[in-house]
Amino acid sequence: MIDIHCHMLPGIDDGPGTMDEAVSMARMAVDDGIDGVICTPHWHPMFWPNGRAEIVHAVAQLQTRLLHEGVSLKVWTGSELSMDASLDAHLDGERLQTLNGGPWLLLELPGYAPPPGIDDHLQSLRRRGYHVVLAHPERYDYVRRDPARLYGWVSMGVAVQITAASLLGRLGPEMAALCRRLLEHRLVHFLASDCHGVRSRRPLLRQAVDVAGDLLGERDARRLVDEHPMSVLRGEPLDLWDYAPISPVRTKRPWFRFLLERG
Ligand SMILES: [Fe+2]
Repeated sequence: MIDIHCHMLPGIDDGPGTMDEAVSMARMAVDDGIDGVICTPHWHPMFWPNGRAEIVHAVAQLQTRLLHEGVSLKVWTGSELSMDASLDAHLDGERLQTLNGGPWLLLELPGYAPPPGIDDHLQSLRRRGYHVVLAHPERYDYVRRDPARLYGWVSMGVAVQITAASLLGRLGPEMAALCRRLLEHRLVHFLASDCHGVRSRRPLLRQAVDVAGDLLGERDARRLVDEHPMSVLRGEPLDLWDYAPISPVRTKRPWFRFLLERG
């Protein structure tokens, strides 16, 4: 298995504070059956200005230490890019780290409201040759309210990553239920850990693949952690499968609602 979203580089974002903790995370990943990890520290122009050079250097240091410690985990470069007005300028300046240096970007949107013009922005990234993976949309309020928004983005060629802990219910039953619906509608292309340390959000990929396997069948579930990540590492496009339209979550409204809505 290959984990495409993991904060394993020490001291550069809200991931592990030390190299020792990063090595412990790597051991946990190996114990979970993970063969390789794309290290995706946050990038934000103000809060996490992690550029390509720092990430390449940090990944090389971590790989050397893992070899030295006998931990058989391969690590690759990446970054979790915050959607920001300056994103395009930073991409043009080749200052940002894409996934393994190829055309794939891991993109995080704000959780509370979609950025204005997001559809146009996603389309323009596609036109410029980038392939976008949307990081954990199950955590965005507006996707929870209206998952059809995600269907629209997948129709535009955007791939979707959900987090193992979300699917397993560690972040609440509502998020788990949405993850299951998204899987059933074939709107998920990657399962990843989004691990931040040894205490928070353990890898859990093996368990999450089992749950996804109950919904999709084992072969398609495995694609989320092996074939699809391999396509990313090779810089190849992905066939986004036979995804299906999804309806908004229906909320029960009381029969006497007309009384509440008057005045
Ligand atoms: Fe993350």
